[in-house]
Amino acid sequence: MQKHVKLKDQSEVLIREMTRDDLAASLAFFESLSEEDRTYLRRDVTKREVVERRIREVEAGTAIRLVAVADGQIVADGSLEISSEEWKAHVGELRLIIARPYRRKGLGIRLAGELFLLASSARVEEIVVRMMRPQKAARSIFRKLGFRQETVLPDYVKDLSGTRQDMILMRCDLEALWSEMEDFIATGDWQRTQ
Ligand SMILES: CC(C)(COP(=O)(O)OP(=O)(O)OC[C@H]1O[C@@H](n2cnc3c(N)ncnc32)[C@H](O)[C@@H]1OP(=O)(O)O)[C@@H](O)C(=O)NCCC(=O)NCCS
Repeated sequence: MQKHVKLKDQSEVLIREMTRDDLAASLAFFESLSEEDRTYLRRDVTKREVVERRIREVEAGTAIRLVAVADGQIVADGSLEISSEEWKAHVGELRLIIARPYRRKGLGIRLAGELFLLASSARVEEIVVRMMRPQKAARSIFRKLGFRQETVLPDYVKDLSGTRQDMILMRCDLEALWSEMEDFIATGDWQRTQ
């Protein structure tokens, strides 16, 4: 897929699937994130081998990854990771990360919506998100999308500085997410990012 999208402030980005050619740009995107943003990432994506692995997962069909591009640079990354274990093959794990200058412009919602569209074709029935407690913006956007907080595992994960953090898991059926997205479409949020 490839879509030109206008954000709330009228700036434009191109949303498209990530390919092998994005290796250097993707690495540059993750390296440009602030230390605070990187602290809560699950993997150290400033390492070339980690970014390479992310691309191999796309090629192997265990992840769908979209990037938003502006002026030739990646400004956001959205992923849906699908378990290769049969008992979880109907579950997709959503991850979003938007460059700071592009936040609060509707890009997170828009990337999530595009991933939900692709999730249906990948026969995903349910979406989960995992985050650490300090990630407040993440909790807000996922609540807005209709996810409900399901589980908190106290001190379960370590951030990149080695500090233990609570892990929060939220989940939602894809069908329910679609009716939330219909609300966004009806209330104009989606049109504003067309
Ligand atoms: C969380 C994140 C992806 C949101 O992306 P975004 O493009 O800014 O989100 P949107 O502009 O689509 O916001 C949609 C809604 O989410 C909520 N929201 C987003 N950021 C928020 C914030 N900082 N504080 C409160 N609510 C917030 C709002 O309800 C917002 O709607 P509004 O702007 O009309 O009020 C972005 O802040 C980010 O990349 N954070 C760091 C990485 C991360 O935590 N990722 C999620 C874990 S996988």
